[in-house]
Order: sequence, then C-alpha cells, then structure tokens
Amino acid sequence: MSNSGEAELLHTFKGIPFTTRSSPELLKSLDTFDAREDDVLLVSYPKSGTHWLAGVITKLYNTQVTITSPIEFGDISRLEELNKLSSKRIIPTHLDYNMLPPNFKNKKCKMIYISRNPKDTAVSMFHYYRDNPNLPTVDTWTAFFDLFLKGNVVCGSWFDHFLSWEEHEDEKNILFLFYEDMKKNLPKVVKEIALFLNLNVSDNDIQDICKKSSFSEMKNDTEKENSDPSHTVCALTSNRKLIFRKGAVGDWKNYFTPKQNIRFQEIFNEKMKLSKM
Ligand code: A3P
Repeated sequence: MSNSGEAELLHTFKGIPFTTRSSPELLKSLDTFDAREDDVLLVSYPKSGTHWLAGVITKLYNTQVTITSPIEFGDISRLEELNKLSSKRIIPTHLDYNMLPPNFKNKKCKMIYISRNPKDTAVSMFHYYRDNPNLPTVDTWTAFFDLFLKGNVVCGSWFDHFLSWEEHEDEKNILFLFYEDMKKNLPKVVKEIALFLNLNVSDNDIQDICKKSSFSEMKNDTEKENSDPSHTVCALTSNRKLIFRKGAVGDWKNYFTPKQNIRFQEIFNEKMKLSKM
C-alpha cells in the first residue's frame, strides 16, 4: 500500500481487514442478525464471480425476490433495513464461515459458495485495487502478489476463507460452485442451482438465462444503467462498471512470473494440504 493516509480505508475486525464501508458497529452486531428460514446466502471471497452468480440466481426466480446489498455493508442501520424487507431475501456476503451470523447456521438457510482459482482471483483483485477508490492503492503487481499471499488484503486470506467454508461443504444446505465450471458448462451449473433452490425451470429457460448471463450481456447491461448502490453485491464498491473486466480463466498466466508461480504453488500446497480441492 503506497501511502499511510490510505490505511484509513481499511480497518481490522477479528483479524480480518474490512473497508470503512463496513462499519465496526455493524460488524459487531452481525451476531444478533435475525435470519429467516427462506433466506438464501450468496457467499464468496471477492472477485470469484459473485455478480455473475447473482445475475443467474435473480433470473431463475419468477417470484418476487430481493438481492440485498451484502450483509456486512454499511452501518448499523442496515440490519434494520434488511429486517423490514418483506420479499424473499438473497443476501450476498464475503464473510468467512466463522463470522457468519449464527442464525443463518441454526436456521439451516441455503448458502451457495462460489470459488475461483485463487491465482485468477488474485489478478482480478489486483485490478480491483487499482480501479476502486474504496481500496488502498497498490503500485505494482509484485507488491500486490505479496499482500495477497500474506492475506493482507481486504477480506483476509483467500486460503482461510476457502477453508472455513470447505469444512462445511457436505452440509445439505450448502452448495459449492466453481467459476471455472460456470465457464465450462453454464447450463449444467444453472440446473444444479435450480435443483438446490427447488426451482422448476425448463431447458428453454435455462438456455435463455445462460444467454442473458454471458459476460458480454452482463457488461452491456451494466454500461446502460446508472450505478445504484443497492445493485452491487460487493461490499467494496457501488460501481458495477468496475466488476466486468475480462471474465476469463487463466489470466494469471499473463501476470505470474515463473518464480511467483512456484512460490504460490508452495504456499497453496502447504495451506491446502487438508483440502479436497
Ligand atoms: P475478472 O476481473 O478476472 O475479469 P465478483 O463479482 O466476485 O467481484 O467477481 C468479478 C469477476 O467475475 C471479474 O473477473 C469479472 O469479469 C467476472 N465476471 C463477472 N460476470 C461474469 C460473467 N458473466 N462471465 C464471466 N465472468 C464474469
């Protein structure tokens, strides 16, 4: 991070860096959040395809649902606002499993966790740091690479986040998805989501949803609309235009040096030795 004034953009709660868009008071009160049995949580580490998944999910419902802004976004008044919503709530969050309000766990709310190759996630996040005024400046990819590996970035360590959720992968109310699977065969993943959410969707509808959820369609839609804070599913920006960058698998190869790749792989192997990934 290049200058000390920018350190004010982040604060740490329970050892995890958050932007000031998540107030400490809100984070402290999350444990009291009143979940509803039919809430659906959309969970991710930043830059894993959250908006893509949110786009698919809204199109799957033909009843009134509200994609809220992330549960950790805003000040303490947010909890009251969420309480007041009368429609079914799809609630995005970048929280790790341990910080999730316990009510969601006790009520066995459905949760969809989307993950992405951490190398591509790191590159995507690097660009996000550069373009997003709510995040500290990073001067170079090399500097960001170090911060990412140390977990010294907003939302903390990718490894800790993934592992905290993976531990609960077998619970029936949690669906694990991968960005790369969505790229490879979106209709298959959309069917899987529909089944998990008990939604009846025809093959034609699935084709239509996939078409409307392509990178180019979603990017175009965003460019046409005015940015509205209630439309973003990321607690780190209200500007949807920052989200749709490249939408590719393997962009990391354009950034990682061979040495960085070896270092990343070593840390990955060590941190993920108990993971099924
Ligand atoms: P890139 O920066 O690699 O392009 P999130 O929504 O969690 O912030 O993730 C953003 C990443 O998902 C960005 O990655 C963005 O381009 C990508 N993305 C968003 N919509 C997409 C889509 N419809 N298809 C493929 N990738 C998409």
